[in-house]
Amino acid sequence: MQKNILVVDDDPDVVLMLTDRLESLGYATLSAVDGQHALEILESEKPGLVLLDLEMPRMTGLEVMEKLAQEQARLSNLPPIIVMTAHGTIERAVEAMKRGAFDFLMKPLDLDHLTLVMQKALEREALKRHVAVLREDVDSRYGTIVADTPAMASLIALIKRAADSDATVLLLGESGTGKELFARSIHQWSRRIENPFVVINCVALTETLLENELFGHEKGAFTGATTQQKGKVELADNGTLFLDEIGDMAPDLQAKLLRLLQDREFHRVGGTRLVQVNIRVIAATNRDLSKAVREGKFREDLFHRLNVISFSIPPLRDRPDEIPHLADLFLRRYTKEMGKPGMRLTEAALGAMHRYRWPGNVRELENAVARAVVLSTDREIGPEHLRLSRDQEEEPQVREASDLSYHEAMEHYRYYLIEQALKRARGNQTKAAETLGLQRSYLARVLKQKRAEAQKDDQ
Ligand SMILES: Nc1ncnc2c1ncn2[C@@H]1O[C@H](COP(=O)(O)OP(=O)(O)OP(=O)(O)O)[C@@H](O)[C@H]1O
Ligand SMILES: [Mg+2]
Repeated sequence: MQKNILVVDDDPDVVLMLTDRLESLGYATLSAVDGQHALEILESEKPGLVLLDLEMPRMTGLEVMEKLAQEQARLSNLPPIIVMTAHGTIERAVEAMKRGAFDFLMKPLDLDHLTLVMQKALEREALKRHVAVLREDVDSRYGTIVADTPAMASLIALIKRAADSDATVLLLGESGTGKELFARSIHQWSRRIENPFVVINCVALTETLLENELFGHEKGAFTGATTQQKGKVELADNGTLFLDEIGDMAPDLQAKLLRLLQDREFHRVGGTRLVQVNIRVIAATNRDLSKAVREGKFREDLFHRLNVISFSIPPLRDRPDEIPHLADLFLRRYTKEMGKPGMRLTEAALGAMHRYRWPGNVRELENAVARAVVLSTDREIGPEHLRLSRDQEEEPQVREASDLSYHEAMEHYRYYLIEQALKRARGNQTKAAETLGLQRSYLARVLKQKRAEAQKDDQ
């Protein structure tokens, strides 16, 4: 929606000239010839931008800004203000900037310059709103924790207590059990809440890239490093650094991370100066870290550094009582997101959810509900909409194969094996191929074929 632009100037000619110009550019305008009037309009009409003259007889532009600052709490979302001032009064313009004006313009006005500054101000406002919406989205996504069973409730109580300290926390649990949700919650429950929560995914990148992402680099550290760049560790200063999938971190980097955890200081890549940071560290992994230590894949000293306070989040199959509540949470979330109000889960659907083993834990449950909301054409969500994969029952594919021809059954089984390996490798095709002793290209071909078939079936 196009917002109004408020023009405030005690000279009616200036007001007319500006409103004409803005309207010819397609903006809707409002106008005021003194500060008091401007304040009234600001309250009643909520314009999207203000062009404010600083020299006005009854109430100056600066006084208007002062009044606005006092009322800021009540008038949520003040629009950006561009002040206009005559030659020789630059100090006042500077004062206005200090009080939060977006920019200032010298009179006589250069209209092209004015348009440019206005566009910038409006763009910034749009961006601010966008960020606010995104933040709300993240907050609502990570805001609600279901903890219905006594075991989970006491786990949450412990986690809350740990949140208050600066101690390093290690979160263990299978994939999709809620490690990131808990990490974010610890940050929210801590004194660092106003400062950044920065996520580093330790598995996603090659060693050099990860080092660069963690520590940043100095200008000239490598070809292409034309400026100094801060890494995520530095961005997390005074906040929380979340090291996700820590069990997958390369050995060389483990050493560097250990140093960071011990001394809270590091070098940027290519740098000689030590940079100090104040960070709280939370790490998470779905791997068995003690086993990785025994196998020599994870540094023991780093493990002890991380393992100051550790929590194991139980898999969903060990707390089935939480399934209905979680399902309901996700149902509300996704019906709202997709504009399909009033949907409900049938008893049969809930029964199927109870029987299922949820290898992908809460995330899998969330995905199943989201998919069902999309797929179901009526208000009832039945088991058929959940599409829970049946491989949790004993080798179903093989059993079902009895009414298939030999070749069809082999075809089926081939895909089944690949799917299982992929699941274990958490979607990593190279790893999955390795465990099956297959060429990755072959595995990719089978998957592609299967997806093409599935697509044909869906149409
Ligand atoms: N107890 C809970 N209450 C509400 N929502 C939850 C709960 N546990 C997990 N979720 C939701 O399930 C989804 C998966 O959780 P999350 O991303 O935290 O898992 P994870 O352990 O980090 O998984 P992975 O190891 O695969 O990264 C998220 O959308 C999260 O909000
Ligand atoms: Mg995660």
